[in-house]
Amino acid sequence: MATKILVTGGTGYIGSHTVVELQEAGFEVVIIDNLSNSNIKVLDGIQAITGIRPVFVEGDCTDMTILRRLFADNPGIKGIINFAASKAVGESVQKPLLYYRNNLNTLMNLLELMPEFGVKGIVFSSSCTVYGEPDVNPIDETAPIKPATSPYGNTKQISEEIITDYVRSGAPIKSIILRYFNPIGAHPSALIGELPLGVPQNLVPYLTQTAAGIRKELTVFGNDYDTPDGTCIRDFIDVVDLAKAHVVAMKRMLDGADTDAIEIFNLGTGTGLSVLRLIESFERATGVKVPHRIGDRRAGDIEQIWAIPAKANEVLGWKADTPIDVTMANAWRWQQSLPKS
Ligand code: UD1
Repeated sequence: MATKILVTGGTGYIGSHTVVELQEAGFEVVIIDNLSNSNIKVLDGIQAITGIRPVFVEGDCTDMTILRRLFADNPGIKGIINFAASKAVGESVQKPLLYYRNNLNTLMNLLELMPEFGVKGIVFSSSCTVYGEPDVNPIDETAPIKPATSPYGNTKQISEEIITDYVRSGAPIKSIILRYFNPIGAHPSALIGELPLGVPQNLVPYLTQTAAGIRKELTVFGNDYDTPDGTCIRDFIDVVDLAKAHVVAMKRMLDGADTDAIEIFNLGTGTGLSVLRLIESFERATGVKVPHRIGDRRAGDIEQIWAIPAKANEVLGWKADTPIDVTMANAWRWQQSLPKS
């Protein structure tokens, strides 16, 4: 019988790609999502790719009653992958309570119900934002955690602490915390991808919308940073590579191959790419020019950050190896599959 996994936020960007990889690896998936930042049609995309429509529960993970009913209706869930969270840095500064409530209550509810329903492990979506502006690059998992620069970032730090405290208290659960660098791209089928609501805040959706003529031009936020071309440097990781890491992490916990009840992994490529070099890569991969201009720095941006993914490479046996031009071509194919408005 297939192992059953609950994916919270499973119709979202990273969640939907992970559901595909889980199903392709033979897992049975139950999704809960409140559809606050995703569309129910994502289920059609998942079904078209994998031939399987996952069980879907529309609901909010901050609601214990809904979660209890979900576990009762879907007995035998062995693991949880928790993507259900608000994730816009700027919005979190405007609406901090929304972020603390959504992100922390969701996590605490899930943790509390795990022992009761016999759920053994939880994979948690954290972020390289916990490292703040690193003293040196690239960084491994032992780099110091810096004070958070936004309520969003703070929810990731606090979540890591909540999980650690709970597991160390002797609760009968295990966790793998994954610190994502900058996830981009879309499934090569162009059947699922990122669906930003309104004006995109992140670089790649803004870039692809500009290339599609939906936005007039892309503003590059600052070219006076202390980097080779003056623009910020990030570790852009293909979303399908990222999704696959979740499957490996879940198997590791459920098979008992983990060496500690909490393990933390950086998920990046190990290569830093500047904003301008990313634009060049898009243009090279697609042959489409992206109108762009240099603007002011964006408040709160980190100058440069990229990962040492050695721990994930060696311990998980996982590697992000999709070439950046392929990722860019996939992002473009996905953009072209969307309506032009
Ligand atoms: C941020 C968060 C990260 C979160 C991610 C997804 C921080 C420090 N980082 O990453 O934790 O997981 O969003 O929500 O909180 N850029 C432009 N023009 C644009 C948009 C972006 O030049 O129109 C530049 C930015 O200045 C930055 C780079 O592109 O240098 C990447 O920006 P973005 O995609 O927003 O991601 P981060 O800010 O790195």
